[in-house]
Amino acid sequence: EMPLVCLTDFEVQAREQLSKTSWDFINGGADEGITREDNIAAFKKIRLRPRYLRDVSEVDTRTTILGEEISAPIGISPTGFHTIACPDGEMSTARAAQAAGVCYITSTFASCSFEDIVAAAPGGLRWFQLYVQSDQQLNKQLVQRVESLGFKALVVTVDAPVVGNRRHDIRNGLDLKRNLMLTDLRSPALAYSRDSNFLQRNSIPSLQTSAPSPYFSWNDLSWFQSLTRLPIILKGILTKEDAELAVKHNVQGIVVSNHGGRQLDEVPSSIDALTEVVTAVNGKLEVYLDGGVRTGNDVLKALALGAKCVFLGRPILWGLACKGEHGVRDVLNILKNELHTSMALTGCRSIAEINRNLIQFSRL
Ligand SMILES: Cc1cc2nc3c(=O)[nH]c(=O)nc-3n(C[C@H](O)[C@H](O)[C@H](O)COP(=O)(O)O)c2cc1C
Repeated sequence: EMPLVCLTDFEVQAREQLSKTSWDFINGGADEGITREDNIAAFKKIRLRPRYLRDVSEVDTRTTILGEEISAPIGISPTGFHTIACPDGEMSTARAAQAAGVCYITSTFASCSFEDIVAAAPGGLRWFQLYVQSDQQLNKQLVQRVESLGFKALVVTVDAPVVGNRRHDIRNGLDLKRNLMLTDLRSPALAYSRDSNFLQRNSIPSLQTSAPSPYFSWNDLSWFQSLTRLPIILKGILTKEDAELAVKHNVQGIVVSNHGGRQLDEVPSSIDALTEVVTAVNGKLEVYLDGGVRTGNDVLKALALGAKCVFLGRPILWGLACKGEHGVRDVLNILKNELHTSMALTGCRSIAEINRNLIQFSRL
């Protein structure tokens, strides 16, 4: 067996492990996949300006997000249905995140109950990703339930008023709305516990059929703020206009994201949209990024351009598909080690020393 030494190695092996339908669901983008590819390519256009002779014998990757300490500015983006990648699903993800000392944003569409996820790793830092539902009562129940379970923030996804057009899923006959996830997505190559009914195990049975609400708008935010003391983070903001509205509506954070290129195609890559958002919020709230982060240099670049932390979507599912909990641990540790090396090689001894001078703007 080939050792898995970088995140791309996990991608190659995960593809071999998963059924075509599962792979396409995880890997795919919307429409022509332009943004999905741009997310990776845009990082590769950026060049670094290293500083030397700064005694990098000790490099500290620790930082904070909303006041909580994390071992590195790397976390887990919300992705649904982890049982398609490994039998223990989100429980494995939660354990790996806790072991690595990073934040795990749990998806509304988790395939394990939120209670089970919390019980699997009681000491881990978790945020809850909310797809706002059309049913207000359900929104209220959900928010209060995750708050009492110890989730530390509400990550409200804003870029999915309707579901993007994913051609592979349509060709493969995958219909999330009709609960075909279980039968169609489970790889026959993997040993799943067949007795555990997906719908019963799911946290909110009715949620499987209820898509995100297309009605949700800026005016509804204050209702959520009145419901909970949790900080609110908006995930999927790409423009200065929306960033300014986020500040005006007193949210605590923004995840610059295009949903991994799975929603509106032909929007900017995350790393290209970052500066516009960082400039607009002018330090009034924390800005994070997800989309296309695959190496330590990518993390360094996002931080240099103003992100407080980056999050990983697909690489976590690759880790799960290859080696379950240990695969996710490996993915996180590989990226943390790469960041450590990138920092040492650019002369950054702490996260605070990462700044715009690391970026070669003349080339962009
Ligand atoms: C299989 C899959 C499922 C996802 N499910 C969700 C979800 O439930 N909620 C959400 O806000 N974003 C979801 N996303 C988007 C991710 O949170 C994230 O924005 C994206 O994957 C980041 O890009 P990356 O995969 O290049 O790291 C999903 C992405 C993938 C690939």
